[in-house]
Amino acid sequence: MARIKTINDFKKARDEKNPIAMITCYDFACARLIEESDIDVILVGDSVGMAFAGNSTTLPVTVEQMIYHATIVRRGAPETFIVVDLPFMSYHVSAEDTLRNCGRIMKETGANAVKLEGGRDFAHIVEVLTKASIPVMGHLGLTPQSVHKLGGYTVQGREEDKRRIMIEDAKILEDNGAFSIVLEMVPALLAGEITKSLSIPTIGIGAGNLCDGQVLVINDMLGFDERFNPKFLKKYTNLADTVRKALSDYSREVKAGTFPAAEHSFK
Ligand code: KIV
Repeated sequence: MARIKTINDFKKARDEKNPIAMITCYDFACARLIEESDIDVILVGDSVGMAFAGNSTTLPVTVEQMIYHATIVRRGAPETFIVVDLPFMSYHVSAEDTLRNCGRIMKETGANAVKLEGGRDFAHIVEVLTKASIPVMGHLGLTPQSVHKLGGYTVQGREEDKRRIMIEDAKILEDNGAFSIVLEMVPALLAGEITKSLSIPTIGIGAGNLCDGQVLVINDMLGFDERFNPKFLKKYTNLADTVRKALSDYSREVKAGTFPAAEHSFK
């Protein structure tokens, strides 16, 4: 049973040194299984645009799509703490536009919080949302919505100036109300330094083991895509093999006339 029910439990988990396990989810079947597990938090990530929809970036994802997937995930996981990603350009135009988008996400999906990418440039948005009682998770390091600006999906914060900016940005997000921060593809020691400098928890992906929690994309950790093997990813199973075998067994049996057998047929 997940221990995290409210944003206060994030702080409690950090203070009690209980690592937070977060995982992405986009569909009902997986949401049900996660709800039965002791995973603490579901992230309906805009990685849905890549892992689920097959795009090469997260940029095409819309607010409508996030609402669609988050509503489905909430149906499968009624008791789990759910964070919904704000897609590209849904929080960039104005505070008013952001509030309208987040209002819809919170009302229509039953999510507990939203997540947005970026540091000081989005501090005012974090503040506006927090004041409107919408809890915000931050996201620093590799921020996939900025892939074109960053020039690829690469480790962030290796240079001294970028390192310093990331440490400052994390503090600025905390000061403006963020209840937790995802650190993606950041050197482990830098992630540890950021974690130490904050009083809210950090959740890492490709950021080493000094964070207060970890997050993985569900399709990646289940091994659905054999072509995707970044250094930070641990595949806990190989569903590509399992599914491939099931599909070929089914096809072979249909063609051989051995499925359906008597036990699958009605009298
Ligand atoms: O969209 C997503 O899945 C994410 C995680 C990789 C943190 O932002």
